[in-house]
Amino acid sequence: MNTGKPVSRSGRFEKKPAKKTTKFTQSVSFDWRLWEYDIAGSIAHAMMLHKIGILTKSELKSITEGLKQIASEIERGEFNWDETFEDVHMNIEAELTSRVPAGAKLHTARSRNDQVSLDMRLWLRHEIISICKEIRDFQQTIVGLAEKNIGIFIPGYTHLQRAQPVLISHHLLAYVEMLERDYQRYCDCFYRTNECPLGSGAIAGTTIPINRESVAKILCFIDEEDRPRVTQNSMDAVSDRDFVIEFCAASSITAVHLSRFAEDIILWSTTEFNFIKLPDEFTTGSSLMPQKKNPDIAELIRGKTGRVIGNLTTLLTLLKGLPMTYNRDLQEDKERMFDTADTIKASLNVFNAMMTNVEFNKEVCNSAASDPLLLATDLADYLVMKGLPFRKAHHIVGTLVSIAEKKKTRLDELSIDEFKSVCPEIGEDVFEVFDLNKAIEKRNIVGAPSIREVKKQISRWKKQLKDLNR
Ligand code: ARG
Repeated sequence: MNTGKPVSRSGRFEKKPAKKTTKFTQSVSFDWRLWEYDIAGSIAHAMMLHKIGILTKSELKSITEGLKQIASEIERGEFNWDETFEDVHMNIEAELTSRVPAGAKLHTARSRNDQVSLDMRLWLRHEIISICKEIRDFQQTIVGLAEKNIGIFIPGYTHLQRAQPVLISHHLLAYVEMLERDYQRYCDCFYRTNECPLGSGAIAGTTIPINRESVAKILCFIDEEDRPRVTQNSMDAVSDRDFVIEFCAASSITAVHLSRFAEDIILWSTTEFNFIKLPDEFTTGSSLMPQKKNPDIAELIRGKTGRVIGNLTTLLTLLKGLPMTYNRDLQEDKERMFDTADTIKASLNVFNAMMTNVEFNKEVCNSAASDPLLLATDLADYLVMKGLPFRKAHHIVGTLVSIAEKKKTRLDELSIDEFKSVCPEIGEDVFEVFDLNKAIEKRNIVGAPSIREVKKQISRWKKQLKDLNR
């Protein structure tokens, strides 16, 4: 049936594509998500075509109105996506042309190759901004938790073995730092996404004297000084997906950070650690074991990291063997991009909600941190201050730890004679080393966990996040 709608293969072919071909090659079942940006891009392109005399004023008007009407139908869920028109671009153009004769002029000086890159860039810009907002919200929550729980000590771990005492707030702020780097990476990615590829055509630009800069300006592809930013090589522009790869790479690092945080939360909520109590609303029960309260959200955030990294790997693999320029393989990029954005946004959002109501078990945390072995390094530092070389001090403390272990006593409960028998330089003041409050307070250099330093960091973050929110 000839509907009068444009299709990508009209004219050249004697036979219609096989049903199997249509089914296998269509992308509209997923790229329909680009519709809003496809329409915005088309309106900007039409405005420029009018400026250079390709479209009359009334043609521009009918195209714009037709596109807006289609947009509201899509929004209301009343638009009929048809896989015989392959993708979102052809579906919208075909529908427009069936309603508005001037629609047939819209694709002048444009190819789906530059159009698809444009739509993805527009979509991704929007997503990056909302991910950045989620990151900021999450940072705010963590800083709030750090402030609220400032007096709580926990053991810091290396190799998952107790290492040295820290403030829980210091541990939490580590994630704020990671999220800040994530934020910066997304900003960098935004910068390179923010270039307008329209005008690159299928591969070699166009013979029609279009004005790329005016389209770029309408679509806000601009730099800090409001100058339009357009891609500089048509062949690169239609085959480049670096901006998507970069987005997926930044997202993979973010996902890894969230996964590590989730792992801490999972450990801390076990009976063995018991450092935190997760809010009921953000945990699940077992269908069999009535006593269970499971950290499924944290586990799923950790698990979803796999698909985010998988998406990056897919894209790298997709691109690695492609000859210049556009190849249909590139159609595989969209689902990976969508999935990455959806997963990261949802993970940040639910993690934030869960953490807002986490409670720390102060007694359990403080008691775990009061293990005197956590201050073995402080004891070595004490000997250094008495004039011993650090390596020797390290050996002496190792010997003392082993004596205490054999005697089944705490390191801080060895007698002064026992201390002196290993190292005569040790004096009565050795017992002060084991004062946890003092030990923490001594860690008062930048980046270390004394209460004073951590409070400084909290104020810095609060100010920084407030300034940024303005
Ligand atoms: N559906 C295609 C994609 O997503 C659009 C570009 C098609 N271009 C082409 N020359 N077949 O990549």
